[in-house]
Amino acid sequence: MLTFNRVEFSYTNQQVFKDLHFTIDQGDFTFLIGKSGAGKSTLLQLIYMNILPTAGYVQFGEFSSDSITPKQLPFLRRKIGIVFQDFKLLSDRNIFDNLAFVLHVTGTPSKLIKRKVLFALSDVGLTHKQTNMPNQLSGGEKQRVAIARAMINDPMLILADEPTGNLDPETSLEILNILKKINNRGTSVLFATHNYDLVKRTEAKIIKVSDGKAVRVTLKKSATS
Ligand SMILES: Nc1ncnc2c1ncn2[C@@H]1O[C@H](COP(=O)(O)OP(=O)(O)O)[C@@H](O)[C@H]1O
Ligand SMILES: [Mg+2]
Repeated sequence: MLTFNRVEFSYTNQQVFKDLHFTIDQGDFTFLIGKSGAGKSTLLQLIYMNILPTAGYVQFGEFSSDSITPKQLPFLRRKIGIVFQDFKLLSDRNIFDNLAFVLHVTGTPSKLIKRKVLFALSDVGLTHKQTNMPNQLSGGEKQRVAIARAMINDPMLILADEPTGNLDPETSLEILNILKKINNRGTSVLFATHNYDLVKRTEAKIIKVSDGKAVRVTLKKSATS
């Protein structure tokens, strides 16, 4: 489903990747680990083609960084759901409208919008918060809304960039479990984190970025897993 082939990437003043080479299969749950500054967020941006490799290519489904056109980008992005550390909810509208907004933008018929939003909210256990504003929710609830939003167009892949970075350990585990549930239904998940406790508790593939490369690693499972 996703292939990085000999990918190099540099920002104007700095090389971040010199040889990224790995694949992710449909249905995989993969952690992306590595020190702060190693390039985790940059790697995720290469997947949704916010940035393009300076050499090599990224292939996602039918889309390749070599040949993608600006017109195709929205179609690529519809197959990818993204979850950020800071949630990125729209503060001027309630939870229902935060989710409905995405469907409006992608041209969903209005008859379908209500059904899809209510399904997504019930999936993360937040039907009762649909008329609340984002600032009336806890961090964990905001992140559940962000996950519901990421899922609303039935993506093939969820990219989560430090989704538990602002959350306490118990809430972090909740978020991990929601992403695991989504993965069990067939959506691939790529979860960038430097929370090794979380990684050690979970049966998942692990890719580590360091020194401009990505390698598959295994961690010793913790006794609490
Ligand atoms: N927009 C940018 N312009 C220039 N350099 C950047 C930019 N974004 C990130 N970097 C640099 O690229 C490296 C990788 O950053 P990043 O992908 O954010 O790492 P991580 O997510 O693993 O913390 C860092 O050295 C960072 O300073
Ligand atoms: Mg980052």
